[in-house]
Amino acid sequence: MCGIVGILGRQPVASSIVEALRRLEYRGYDSAGLATLEDGRLTRVRASGKLHNLEEKLAAVRLTGEIGIGHTRWATHGRPTEINAHPHASDKLAVVHNGIIENFRELREELTAKGHVFATQTDSEAVAHLVTEAMRQGAGPAAAVAAALPRLRGAFALVFLFNAEPDLLIGARRGSPLAVGWGAAGVYLGSDALALAPFAHTIAYLEEGDQVIATRAHVVFHDAAGREVERRRQPLLAGSFLVDKGNFRHFMAKEIHEQPEVVGRTLAHYLDLAAGTVRLPFELSFDPKTLSRVTIAACGTAYYAGLTARYWLERLARLAVDIDVASEFRYREAPLPENGLTIVVSQSGETADTLASLRYAKQHGQHILGIVNVETSTIARESDTLALTLAGPEIGVASTKAFTCQLAVFACLAIALGRARGVLSEADEKRLVGELVTTPGLMADALNHEARLEPVAHDIARASSVLYVGRGVAYPLALEGALKLKELSYIHAEGYAAGELKHGPIALIDDNMPVIVLAPPDATLEKTISNLQEVAARGGHIIFIGSARAREAAAAELAGFVELPDIASAFAVIVYAVPVQLLAYHAAVFMGKDVDQPRNLAKSVTVE
Ligand code: F6R
Repeated sequence: MCGIVGILGRQPVASSIVEALRRLEYRGYDSAGLATLEDGRLTRVRASGKLHNLEEKLAAVRLTGEIGIGHTRWATHGRPTEINAHPHASDKLAVVHNGIIENFRELREELTAKGHVFATQTDSEAVAHLVTEAMRQGAGPAAAVAAALPRLRGAFALVFLFNAEPDLLIGARRGSPLAVGWGAAGVYLGSDALALAPFAHTIAYLEEGDQVIATRAHVVFHDAAGREVERRRQPLLAGSFLVDKGNFRHFMAKEIHEQPEVVGRTLAHYLDLAAGTVRLPFELSFDPKTLSRVTIAACGTAYYAGLTARYWLERLARLAVDIDVASEFRYREAPLPENGLTIVVSQSGETADTLASLRYAKQHGQHILGIVNVETSTIARESDTLALTLAGPEIGVASTKAFTCQLAVFACLAIALGRARGVLSEADEKRLVGELVTTPGLMADALNHEARLEPVAHDIARASSVLYVGRGVAYPLALEGALKLKELSYIHAEGYAAGELKHGPIALIDDNMPVIVLAPPDATLEKTISNLQEVAARGGHIIFIGSARAREAAAAELAGFVELPDIASAFAVIVYAVPVQLLAYHAAVFMGKDVDQPRNLAKSVTVE
């Protein structure tokens, strides 16, 4: 979940390493560091906290090394101190690591017994010493890395720099992503294409188990069995990876505001807009008619997208759906029926638990459909069928536009499967597609009323605990709303199915705790309003998100009202996501929180 980079350049590389790390900061920002080779000597500069702390330190030193590695950390083992910051080094090498080395304790004991002195509490340092030990026994760099890798348990991507090798970087991947880029000024290694975009014109991805030996003139890949292999080199279009806030104060604000466009783009990819039908941009690897069950596995916000889709797949395609968070699903040993479909959902396409769920399902004979935002990611590549969300790079750590694009893809999929299974008629499809295409415009309307919602967000910011409630598809959105508020503002929040309140949580209600009622206009609206009455009767502090008509029907005293148009659409919940995101965003901004990089989080969670 950290970001790693390596550069074999023809000029001093420190500033380019920092630039690449800035693009990788979404993967973690507990500390950052780099190492370059200065006249045959490894020089490391590291700092705890965000990248600008490293930059401040670098301003005071002149690094001239034309080869180097860098790291931005999301701490797993050891506190986010400078000592624990990567690169980790020995007298022979420095290494940056993304992932977890599960057996680091036993390696540490073994190597300490051989005289190695550990300076940090990290798992990663064991890798530096393990390779160093092999070199002490006489192995060259490549042989030492090759000997060390099979001894490592866990998931990782690594890049090594050696103090006697001014023209060599070695990279390895098992479980965590790593790519090689070629540019006019050198050869680059990095966690993803985003990091390499300013420098490289072509890129190749390491496959699972690969090792890469890179010099300025030659890049050689070896597979897990040690065989020399080719990896496809493809063009890297720098323009498509612009990391820019535009006129917005935060990436998150920009990404919330991009939603009408990216949801529209995603829908255009899945719909025949002229015919008013769904036209999936891929062949299905299964026959929808004989599909026995759909299983969905994902994490966090992507899981909530799946939870929403369960309602659509059950209702519109009459499919039985089982869904779980990927971290549980992967260990449940769930029996998976013959001719079943497993859908994994992931913005990054690298989430370790989701990837493991995919592999479990694959082993058990399931068809795999991946709904993914990063086309080149591991989940995208390992899925039988790839359903892309066209959200573009999502930089804000809290997911926003990826979520609504996931919902858009699921909506199209549910209609397509309903049609293919003979459950929906042609007229049903036309009606549903007609409703779906109104979504981007309605999202734009919702965004136009942003200012009206700010005072409500400020009211929420004063609370120490908040409840979100909804029914039907608004229930997963209630969960998502609570997650957004928690992660951005650090205010405790919980999402509940509105009908569950009376089974316990209603005991919490008092006039200090905002209860945010999500009331889209569907068959559950009346019931949601009854639940709202139960809260009102107990003096609850109610914030209502719904239409003016629904508010009138609610006939209760409200502490806040976020008005949305009366949306006659089965997919209104996609529009309702906008005020839910904005409330969390504005509450956090009001509180002075770092909305783009909330504490303790990372954008791409490649550890389990
Ligand atoms: C919350 C958030 C996370 C991610 C989760 C899965 O705002 O962003 O909960 O949704 O870590 O990540 P992906 O979608 O990359 O698999």
